[in-house]
Amino acid sequence: MKSTLAIYPGSFDPVTNGHLDLIERGAKLFDRLIVAVLRNLEKDPLFSVTERVEMLGEATRPWPNVEVEIFEGLLVDYARRRGAHVILRGIRAVSDYEYELQMALMNRRLEPQIETVFMMPAETYSYLSSRLVKEIFRLGGDVAGLVPPVVEQRLRAKVR
Ligand code: PNS
Repeated sequence: MKSTLAIYPGSFDPVTNGHLDLIERGAKLFDRLIVAVLRNLEKDPLFSVTERVEMLGEATRPWPNVEVEIFEGLLVDYARRRGAHVILRGIRAVSDYEYELQMALMNRRLEPQIETVFMMPAETYSYLSSRLVKEIFRLGGDVAGLVPPVVEQRLRAKVR
């Protein structure tokens, strides 16, 4: 029987409840889902890749068919190495569409065998992003309900 492996790539700095909403939907739709954290040397992240993977590991524990990995280089090369034919991405609002379309079509040009599948998170999370979570937290705002408890704890530990 054919089993579908999908890759959900991103920065996840840090993982939000919006990401988890998408992971839950992806875990239902695909046989296996790899959440792939990009090791990006250009960006200046709040959390190290190891910290991000640890938080994702904890937050995705409810779904046995979800794994968390680190990748670097081209996403399509990584997907090919892992034998995945699907890239999963979330679209929150129209504003996400242009960037996502550009990436999906470029990835298709690079590797026509891999299909990008878009899913929408619950509308409650349509305005949620890792960038805003970090900004709200830095400025003393409450991020409860926006991120999983493990991220809240790690954020608090950063300012101690
Ligand atoms: O959550 P993000 O930061 O929007 O995720 C972006 C990500 C990691 C999916 C994208 O930057 C990516 O795939 N980077 C790997 C390098 C690559 O393949 N670039 C060409 C994309 S067309």
